[in-house]
Amino acid sequence: MEQTVRSPQRLAGALAVPGDKSVSHRSLILNAIANGGATVSGLSDGADVRSTAACLRAMGVSIEPPPDSLTNQPGSFQVAGLGPNLQEPTDMLDAGNSGTSMRLLSGLLASQGFLSVLTGDGSLRSRPMGRIVQPLQQMGASIMGRSGNTLAPLAIRGGNLRSIEYEMPVASAQVKSCLMLAGLSASGPTVLHQPALSRDHTERMMTAMGARVETDDLALTLHPAELQAVDVAVPGDISSAAFWMVAGLIHPNARVTITGVGLNPSRAGIIDALQMMGAGDSLLLENERVEGGEPVADVVASSASLKGIELGGEIIPIMIDELPVLAVAACFAEGDTIIRDAAELRVKESDRIATTVSELTRLGGNLEPRDDGMVIHGVGKLSGAAVESHDDHRIAMAMAVAGLAASGDTVIHGAEDASVSYPTFWEHLASLTGEK
Ligand code: S3P
Repeated sequence: MEQTVRSPQRLAGALAVPGDKSVSHRSLILNAIANGGATVSGLSDGADVRSTAACLRAMGVSIEPPPDSLTNQPGSFQVAGLGPNLQEPTDMLDAGNSGTSMRLLSGLLASQGFLSVLTGDGSLRSRPMGRIVQPLQQMGASIMGRSGNTLAPLAIRGGNLRSIEYEMPVASAQVKSCLMLAGLSASGPTVLHQPALSRDHTERMMTAMGARVETDDLALTLHPAELQAVDVAVPGDISSAAFWMVAGLIHPNARVTITGVGLNPSRAGIIDALQMMGAGDSLLLENERVEGGEPVADVVASSASLKGIELGGEIIPIMIDELPVLAVAACFAEGDTIIRDAAELRVKESDRIATTVSELTRLGGNLEPRDDGMVIHGVGKLSGAAVESHDDHRIAMAMAVAGLAASGDTVIHGAEDASVSYPTFWEHLASLTGEK
């Protein structure tokens, strides 16, 4: 599917983005293995979270809308926890495009005494799995995969895990959460040393479910535990909201309000980065509150003059998914933006250093790829052209944002990929441009 985007006279409106994808995956997975039942509200309806739900259902977990249709809000589901009684799936488990599904479920499956095989789409089957296979094998799980156990499909026969103390080579919340899921049933405490902090939703949710998780700077200790089900109110996804924040800032006549955005500090690097770029009062947090244990606010973005910045180190893992759209903002800024320490971008749904650089270059941007990031020379404008999503939802949406402030028509091929995390993205775009 292709979508054509052009810059409207005015970009304005208020919208609520889908439920946070990371919190949604965890609310299903952790409640599936908990004792008792829970209601999850605001669940993401993106394809990635659907993949997690389908895999869990294939192991006997019931995930259904509440029976009373009058109180049945969209995004509300009841999860019936099976505790330790997951069933051996009768077929391959398909994680689709979702790295989070594959890596977190691998940790869960490593503790199950049955055979399971996890696969995914072409993109996911090319992404590195050695980073979870190797520590799970150290814990005693039997896992095999293609290419010397580094690529999916992964065949897992788990059970009887040893506890490990593990130096994580990458700051990855997916790896951390995978090992925490396995660690729940290990013989003793699992100790993880992180190179930098990454999103902490698993730590928060496991704690709320009764597990003992101790953190000391970059070290994390998880004690084996049986989880108790908890209701989860999923906040709006800051990674989806980031598209509209940037759109509001770079469009010359804009005011966009995004309601109910989750602002967990381990996710909110994009706000700090845009402030460093000079967003100032053009990026405001209103109605700050705490919902379901996570900080939430409405974010208001309006037209601003931005300047280039240098980004590297600790902020990178806490805004890793927002770097493609930050690069769009940087094209409209004055001066150069330098992104370092972001080699992880190369192993996302696409090689996001290559795809961000190539597609923004087609729109007249001036960018240089680096091994671990990129340099974006601010040109203050972009001009419409045909661009590709490269099978990557965030590239499709970042290019749409670029199109909202570019001159002429931007034609996005692979526009349907947005539905991996944001099925209503194109409708929301039309509502902000006044086309709907
Ligand atoms: C996620 C962690 C990040 C992120 C992904 C979701 C998660 O991946 O890019 O979109 O839910 O844990 P890494 O932890 O591998 O960096």
